[in-house]
Order: sequence, then C-alpha cells, then structure tokens
Amino acid sequence: MQTLNALSRRAFLNAATTVAAATALTSAKAKGDASNRAIRIGMVGVGSRGTHLLQTMLSFPGVQVPAVCDIVPERAARAQDLVEKATGTRPEAYTKDQRDWQRLVERDDLDAVLTATPWEWHTPIMVAAMKAGKYAGTEVPAAVTVEECWDLVRTSEQTGMPCMMLENVCYFQEVLTLLRMVREGVFGDLLHAEVGYQHDCRFLMFTDDGKLTWRGEHGAVKDGNLYPTHPIGPVAQWMNINRGDRFTRISSVSTKSTGLKNYAAQKFGPDHPLAKRDYALGDVNTSVLQTENGLTVTLYFDLCTPRPYDLILRLQGTKGIHMGGAQGDIYLEGTSPKAHTYEPFAPYMEKYSHPLWTALQEQAKEHGGHGGSDYVTMYEFLKAIRNRTPFPQDVYDAATWSVITPLSFESVANSGAVVDFPDFTQGKWKERKPVPVYGA
Ligand SMILES: NC(=O)c1ccc[n+]([C@@H]2O[C@H](COP(=O)([O-])OP(=O)(O)OC[C@H]3O[C@@H](n4cnc5c(N)ncnc54)[C@H](O)[C@@H]3O)[C@@H](O)[C@H]2O)c1
Repeated sequence: MQTLNALSRRAFLNAATTVAAATALTSAKAKGDASNRAIRIGMVGVGSRGTHLLQTMLSFPGVQVPAVCDIVPERAARAQDLVEKATGTRPEAYTKDQRDWQRLVERDDLDAVLTATPWEWHTPIMVAAMKAGKYAGTEVPAAVTVEECWDLVRTSEQTGMPCMMLENVCYFQEVLTLLRMVREGVFGDLLHAEVGYQHDCRFLMFTDDGKLTWRGEHGAVKDGNLYPTHPIGPVAQWMNINRGDRFTRISSVSTKSTGLKNYAAQKFGPDHPLAKRDYALGDVNTSVLQTENGLTVTLYFDLCTPRPYDLILRLQGTKGIHMGGAQGDIYLEGTSPKAHTYEPFAPYMEKYSHPLWTALQEQAKEHGGHGGSDYVTMYEFLKAIRNRTPFPQDVYDAATWSVITPLSFESVANSGAVVDFPDFTQGKWKERKPVPVYGA
C-alpha cells in the first residue's frame, strides 16, 4: 500500500464511520458491515484512464482489487503488477475476449465494478454489475443512446443497486467553490450558464500507424456533442437538475467538419486515405438547453480545433456573474469594488472554499490528476461503497448528463430542431433535494 499522510487516512476513516449513520442507504440491497472493512473493486478497462483511476484508488487505505479485465493482456498484466505492488496480492486477470468482463462481474468477492473502457461498453458492464448485486461505477459518459440511459435507470431502480458516473469536473476546486456560493445565495436566483468541453484532442483520434482510434471512429460517423458530461455535470449541480428543476429541451447545431480531415493530412500526408475521406463531426457544436424553471444553458463541444483548453464556466444569476478562464473573474452587484467591472475570483476561492475540498486538498494534489479532482471523485466513490450509501452523483444524473449526446445527434440532423429531454426521474425531480455542501 502506498504511504498516506495522516490527514487523508483520518478523513477517509472518519467518513467511513460517521457518514454511514448520517445517510443510511435505504435502497441498496447489498449486505455487509459499513465500516472497517476492505472495499473490493473489480476494474474493467485499464488503458490510459483506467490505469490512472487504479493508481488513484490504490492510494486509499483498505482498497483491494481482486480482479482486472482488459482485452489487451499486456495492459491487464500492467494493472496486475500495480495492484500487487500496492496491496501484496496479485489480482486475477480477465482477457479472453470483449465480453470477459461478464465472468468478472459474477465473482462473489467484489463490492463494486468500475469501468474505463470505450464508451459503448459502459452501460452493458454497469447493468451486468448491478444485476450481480454490485455497486457500479463508470468513466464518462455512462451511456451512448437514449435506450441505454433508460436501461441504467431501470436496472438501478429494479435491483436497488446504485451506479455512479465518476464526473470529476464536479469536484474541480473552482466548481465546488461555486456550488457553495450558489447554495449561500451569492449569485441570487440562477439564470444562465455557458460552459463547454473545449479541448484540442485531435491527437486522440488517430493511431500513430494511420488508423482511427475508437474515439476517431465516433467522430467519423456522428455529428453532435460527443462529450457533454464534463461541462454539464457542474451546471446540473448548481442548477439543481433532477433535484427541484430539470432539463426540458435542447437545440443543437454544428459547424462544418474540417478538423479531423486537416489533422489527418498534417499527420499522415495529403494522400493518406484518412486525409481523403469525409468526417461527420462538426468542429464546433453548440447546444442551447432550457429548464422547467426557466433557466438556460449554452453548451459547446469543440474537440478538433487548435485551441487552449477552456470549460468557460460562466454562471449568471440575479446578483452577479462568474466567468471562468485561466484565473477566473467575478462581478457581484453591490459587492465588487467597481461597477460594471470584473474582479479576480481567486480571493473567493479562499472565502468560499468547499469543505470537501478544504479537507482533502493536500492528498488530492499529491495523488489525483486534473488539479486533484480525480482524488476527490474517487474519495466520494469509495466512501459510498464502504458505507453502503447512495452515490452523490446517481443514476438519474448519469442518464441526464449522458443523454445530451444522442439528443444532440437528433437535433443536429434536423437543422437544430428542439428535442425534448426524457424525465428519467419520472416526476421525482420535484421532491428530490439539492446536492448539499458537506465536508469529508
Ligand atoms: N474523466 C476524465 O477526465 C477522463 C479522461 C480520459 C478518459 N476518460 C474516459 O475514460 C474512458 C477510457 O478512455 P481512455 O482514454 O483510457 O481509452 P483507452 O483506449 O486508453 O483505454 C480503454 C481500455 O479499454 C480496453 N477495452 C476495450 N474494450 C474492452 C472490453 N470489451 N473489455 C475490457 N476492456 C476493453 C482497451 O483495451 C483499453 O485498454 C473513456 O470513457 C473516456 O471518455 C475520462
């Protein structure tokens, strides 16, 4: 086991014993003692992200990984080595074929299954895990079709097993600070957000030997927002989506597609087949979302243009506005020193530091990528499993945030036609309580 400092260990073990009492799980059927028990996780998909998640997971005390799965045996072996080094026990590897994870989820020595495979496997693996009585976790997005979203919701409701999409942007320091400020009324009534997944990921679309990667395969044939959950997760929590409000409609349009083709020409030369073929994915996709309570969101998806990373994180209410960016700016009427003028957001990060971030930041910065948010996300995932409590991001969130992809395809294909959101909560959004601000 890797060395942990006292803060993290204390925080994690405290959570194990106190949160159980505070938030007893009423729906999960899993049995077991809530505290002082090892958590046993089966890991499916140990490529780039899965390996990172595994390393983050292994930095927590009391985590065991009895089984790993990947269709590439060398990657599974690398994961076996990592687990053995950290815990002293070598996990069993499942590498036979694309569905070997089915044997993994049937094991009787797992509390949870976590997947970081390509997108199309997330729902089948989580559904199988929940049916086998395990907590289920997935990388983003949780699902790729409307039907898969419903499948997740129905399976979780029928089995009583929680499932979580580990949306790590919800645990960015800036995002958590804003959540606290929203809860304390600093922005007044929320009106609008403008966010985007704007990240030059062209390098992830092609292999070095001249093929499309699994991401590139999606971009070749689909036009819309392929990756909505990073920016929409924070917005959904600020706006109480599925918890007092809900997304009702979306309209989505795309620019023409140039990025993939141009990049293929740069990388492989203009005569390469990948530089000559056409691609469906528009370079910049823009969606507008409406909520039942009269709020709006502008959501960008921009993966294939040369540009710096930017989530935007504009959040606007009746009392003021936050703009993200490198440092972040804010303007609050009656509070900011100069009328009509932004001031730096940094002091507000101190003043309104979210207690979860305050408690975990030291360890988070040491062990977690994405500014430490990966550590906080994993903390939340493991805490719920250990205490047999519901996940803080639940199946309704996973479905609602992921469904934007297929809804955007439909809207783009129909010239931006307005498409209705399914209500995955089936009316429960009216009664469900907002995500609270809580510590470790
Ligand atoms: N939250 C984040 O910040 C973040 C960052 C990167 C990636 N991701 C997500 O993580 C997931 C994985 O992305 P990646 O970049 O690691 O991709 P990757 O291609 O590096 O890894 C995917 C792994 O899954 C394995 N795999 C494929 N099909 C499988 C199957 N049927 N059974 C078992 N294993 C299988 C592959 O062999 C590979 O090792 C994606 O959903 C992606 O969107 C999230």
